[in-house]
Amino acid sequence: MMETLNSVERVNKIPEIIQGGMGVGVSDWCLAGEVAGDGGLGIVSGTAADVVMARRLQDGDVDGAMRYALEHFPDQKIANKIINDYYLPDGRRLNQPYKNVPMTTFKPYDLGLVEDLNMAAAFAEVWLAKNLASTSGRQPGMVGINLLTKLQLPTFSALYGAMLADVDCVVMGAGIPKDIPQAIENIANRQPAKTKFYVTGSGVENEIVFDPAKYPEIENNNEKPAFLAIVASNALAERLSRSHIDSIKADGLVIEGPTAGGHNAPARDKGFDERDQPIYGDRDKVIIEKIIKLGLPFWLAGGYGTPEGLMDAKKQGANGIQAGSVFALCEESGIDPLLREQLIRQILDGDMNILTSSKASPTGFPFKVVEGLSQDRKRRLCDLGGLREPYVCEAAGGLERIDYRCPAEPESRYVSKNGNIERTLGSLCLCNGLLSTIGLGQIYNDEKEKPKPIVTLGDQTPEVVRRLVGRYGLRFSAVNVMDFLRGKE
Ligand SMILES: Cc1cc2nc3c(=O)[nH]c(=O)nc-3n(C[C@H](O)[C@H](O)[C@H](O)COP(=O)(O)O)c2cc1C
Repeated sequence: MMETLNSVERVNKIPEIIQGGMGVGVSDWCLAGEVAGDGGLGIVSGTAADVVMARRLQDGDVDGAMRYALEHFPDQKIANKIINDYYLPDGRRLNQPYKNVPMTTFKPYDLGLVEDLNMAAAFAEVWLAKNLASTSGRQPGMVGINLLTKLQLPTFSALYGAMLADVDCVVMGAGIPKDIPQAIENIANRQPAKTKFYVTGSGVENEIVFDPAKYPEIENNNEKPAFLAIVASNALAERLSRSHIDSIKADGLVIEGPTAGGHNAPARDKGFDERDQPIYGDRDKVIIEKIIKLGLPFWLAGGYGTPEGLMDAKKQGANGIQAGSVFALCEESGIDPLLREQLIRQILDGDMNILTSSKASPTGFPFKVVEGLSQDRKRRLCDLGGLREPYVCEAAGGLERIDYRCPAEPESRYVSKNGNIERTLGSLCLCNGLLSTIGLGQIYNDEKEKPKPIVTLGDQTPEVVRRLVGRYGLRFSAVNVMDFLRGKE
């Protein structure tokens, strides 16, 4: 196994190439393990890892990886319960829908199985990636986990699971991850981790508390992973690097521009073009000289996934790059192989349009989507609930009741929950669409109603994939991508 280090030692060891976390399941343990095995920082996606694990088990866990990792999970009662609940040795019957995992809710924050599954799934992804990296026979790098700040409820249990697998690094954006450094510290010391729970319309302070001590079977891992915050502005970078407030201080920064795949930061000046894409201007540019003055190590992301990008980043004073899109279509990516090939052919035919949609994501953040693949709007439903917004639906006698809504659920239901109808226009069910993208789409009545995949890729993808195919052919591996980025012939 790899050596164990504290967070400062770990951040200093982070290599120049970070393969960015790509949800849902695009950067799973196979991709991250290969990258880490080749000396990079490979990041597994922790977003909806619970659903991914539950569905792989229901598909018979063909390669045995989920069960192998669960065998090593430190609480075997939990591991066995998950196997009992989800594992189908012969897979599902033809057209049999997946059994969904329960949706995460707040009250009380004692989620039982939901938390256990989330914890075990994050453990499995990290543990498998580290295992793969350490057996690569090459120079092992590091393994990190990516979580979305905006999804508050599943974060701490995933963090705990990842730390039990001795994750080297935690990388978080999509919000202001100011409570995470303290949470990591507390979890490592077997103390409760806490954060304010944001509930729209709430007049009271709600708090999420996760106490590792409630798992007496589990031996503590006191190792602290490094924490990298993904930011898109100088102001946020400054806020998360204040040296006198250790509890919110990140160990390093990923500075991400708006050409990156996945979610992007909103444009400051709020303008939109004729296709409703945010228009980014000078005020959205991060001034690198100011970042350097903060004294933290940093990596540049968003269109840096080329050998020239890596050189340019280092010339600007960065430690290296975080790249996602260049890895998204490689052989070890979680994207369904047939869809991956279709996407590569689309690129070679000059037929791929990538839109920065200001409507698609229920989170409200701009989101990159490959056009032409998006869901048909006949079916709206919310049966996974990963991006639901908690809101106060009733405040009687000083008591508040928290309910949840998603702009991609049926319009009438969203409006009945005091949601603004405008938000439902163009809003896509990312939960179901992204699971279809990795071949784990739900089945509704019959195969025809499987949700269509939603593919997110950065603006740079067509150019960079053409270069990779020119060099390695239609099927290129994560190690090919690493060689390409390092400028190896
Ligand atoms: C398919 C895909 C999914 C992504 N999902 C996430 C995610 O779940 N969380 C996150 O923080 N970033 C996500 N990203 C962003 C990457 O981690 C990385 O920062 C970004 O891809 C860098 O820019 P590039 O796409 O130009 O290389 C995603 C990117 C892609 C291409």
